[in-house]
Amino acid sequence: MNLVVLGATGSIGSQTLEIARRRGHRVVGVSAYHAGDRLWRVVDEFRPEVYAFQEGDDRPGVGRRVDGPDALRELALWPGADAVVVAVNGFDGLTPMLAAIAAGRRVAAATKESIIAGGDLLRGAVAGGLLLPVDSEHAAAFQLLLRRRPEEVRRLIITTSGGALRDWPIDRLPAARPQDALRHPNWSMGQLVTINSATLMNKGIEVLEAHVLFGMPLEAIDVWIHPTQIVHALVETCDGALYASLARPDMMLPIEQALVHPDLPQEALRPLEPEDLGDLTFRRPDPLRYPSLRLCREVGTIGGTMPAVLCAANEVAVAAFLADVLPFTEIIPVVETVLEAHEPQSAPDLAALQASDRWARAAAENALRRRTGR
Ligand SMILES: NC(=O)c1ccc[n+]([C@@H]2O[C@H](COP(=O)([O-])OP(=O)(O)OC[C@H]3O[C@@H](n4cnc5c(N)ncnc54)[C@H](OP(=O)(O)O)[C@@H]3O)[C@@H](O)[C@H]2O)c1
Repeated sequence: MNLVVLGATGSIGSQTLEIARRRGHRVVGVSAYHAGDRLWRVVDEFRPEVYAFQEGDDRPGVGRRVDGPDALRELALWPGADAVVVAVNGFDGLTPMLAAIAAGRRVAAATKESIIAGGDLLRGAVAGGLLLPVDSEHAAAFQLLLRRRPEEVRRLIITTSGGALRDWPIDRLPAARPQDALRHPNWSMGQLVTINSATLMNKGIEVLEAHVLFGMPLEAIDVWIHPTQIVHALVETCDGALYASLARPDMMLPIEQALVHPDLPQEALRPLEPEDLGDLTFRRPDPLRYPSLRLCREVGTIGGTMPAVLCAANEVAVAAFLADVLPFTEIIPVVETVLEAHEPQSAPDLAALQASDRWARAAAENALRRRTGR
């Protein structure tokens, strides 16, 4: 299989490259944000036909570089690619996703912010089998929902570890520093998604992601804290039964499943034995500790440009927290301020979504200046 990997130097990108090594896939295109050692190591090893980056200096003689605002789109349309793995952060994954899908190409999509921002523009692709989720909960839900008629499914439950600060007393949260919130109990991931796990914004975004991918009403999608994250998703059927998907918390499985669907990958993970399951405990998230869940549901109910604004504002606020200029408990209030100031547009096209993304980043910077006095 010939792969294009967007975000090849990141957490999902590196695991995709590991799958390419194991399975003998050819990597024909890669991208990163920065030109640097990590990118050049990938280029040296995989010798892609094409590569792209946004910042830094080129190193001629190692393949063809494409650049400019259309670079990711060009990679997604690279001739001969069988599948495009989209694992960049944020909104920039949407254009290549749409381009690849329009060209009839399989997209293994990790970039959940782009999925929820793209919403209506992507729904047809899911139904057409071209957009496959690379998120452990959604890959699990996708398998559980296969061959189920919508009227048979009453509820989807996705699980969360509760993030790095799950067991902190609420009144200590304002003092949480980046190094505290980056200590995820189960997964090693990029910084943005790890902080989003601590605020549970990641799970709120995933509720919206499931709404787009599976066409289920928001009120039929539930979130439970399940500290060990062995159970990734549960589906309740109309007869009252609950079906669960259990696997080791390891992204190799959802990535491989997305690449080979409708087949299942052989031995993507070491199987679980019943004694590996330990205590399977679940509890509902406390809405006071995790206001992001309520906010995401409100955003999903309005729809239109709101999900794009949510993700862009959140990215700016998380970057400020990581730079130690915004307290942890101010991340969600900054996002909420931006959402309140936004005049949502319904049924947006790509240009309207891009404009909303730019607007939200500027509005979030303003909100930050007002809060931090910088
Ligand atoms: N990590 C996980 O286990 C996991 C699980 C499910 C879903 N996801 C989702 O997958 C996406 C990637 O997550 P990650 O953890 O792999 O992130 P990551 O480790 O931060 O990697 C992001 C990758 O994208 C590149 N990149 C970032 N912003 C970009 C931009 N604007 N344009 C082009 N390239 C850009 C980065 O390049 P540089 O290295 O040069 O910065 C890097 O290669 C996120 O949407 C995340 O929510 C991740």
